[in-house]
Amino acid sequence: MAAAAAVEGPDPVPRGLRELPSQRIIRLPPVAEEVPCVVAEAAAHRAQRTAPYDGDVFRRSQRFYDAIYSFKGYPAEAEMLRAIVRERRPDARTLLDVACGTGKHLELLRGDFDVAGVDLDPEMVALARERLGDEVPLQVEDMAEFDLGRTFDVVMCLFSSIAYTKTEDRLNSAVANLARHAARDGLVLVEPWFYPEDWVPGHVDANFVDRDGLKIARMSLSPPLSDPLTMTFHYLVATTEGVESFTEDHVVGMFTHQHYVSAFQNAGLAVDHDPEGPMSRGLYIGSSA
Ligand SMILES: C[S@@+](CC[C@H](N)C(=O)[O-])C[C@H]1O[C@@H](n2cnc3c(N)ncnc32)[C@H](O)[C@@H]1O
Repeated sequence: MAAAAAVEGPDPVPRGLRELPSQRIIRLPPVAEEVPCVVAEAAAHRAQRTAPYDGDVFRRSQRFYDAIYSFKGYPAEAEMLRAIVRERRPDARTLLDVACGTGKHLELLRGDFDVAGVDLDPEMVALARERLGDEVPLQVEDMAEFDLGRTFDVVMCLFSSIAYTKTEDRLNSAVANLARHAARDGLVLVEPWFYPEDWVPGHVDANFVDRDGLKIARMSLSPPLSDPLTMTFHYLVATTEGVESFTEDHVVGMFTHQHYVSAFQNAGLAVDHDPEGPMSRGLYIGSSA
């Protein structure tokens, strides 16, 4: 879901690392008094569980995901996440990545934590399993509805994956669910998608991969603001098997800062906001009591 222009090659120092996390955290007001009981809310969600979510996500480009997003500085992002966790929860031992995609953050953090991941897309989970092996628990799950029956010291949902919840109701369900999987004194980290006020309709974006045996051009034109919003990606992909072109519609919720803050507070979490985050989209840092 990268809307900004991308170049190939890792970003050596994302802006997020130029300052220490604690220097740019904005403390948000304490949790509202009439916080709904997280456990009761989660039980209600389980009772309403419906058929698997048929979200509009990476339907055809999964096997090219790592190549397309090779511009992302995953090692530096993992370093930043590690620093946030070490600063706030030095004893944290277990970590769950929700919407883990191909498992790149998990690969980088598995030396520090006992890690696990879930993702809605079976193909993403298969790619993550290829990367991580069978020792890392990985499951196909919808972030708004899953129940692993255990908790983790850190629960994170990165790279704007949370926006695929599309509606405020599902955003609330997802954040409540992340909170339910956080241990006592656990951390919930959510990297948001763009806010409505930052959306730039008419922005033309292109991302190119130029490797031996693999060429990709992925282009998009940012549509007028709507909620939910459909980003259409146009792909032209050449491999040794042939050249194909296809489009993918990614439907995302255009949540406001207040939507995210309320979702955390409704889930019973105290929340701080780091306006920079791993890649300039910010980061919500929830703490469970
Ligand atoms: C932009 S990718 C991010 C992947 C990974 N976290 C990363 O940083 O590279 C978004 C991921 O969210 C997953 N996803 C979308 N909707 C989801 C849902 N409802 N529950 C769980 N995962 C979902 C997609 O399958 C995809 O792997």
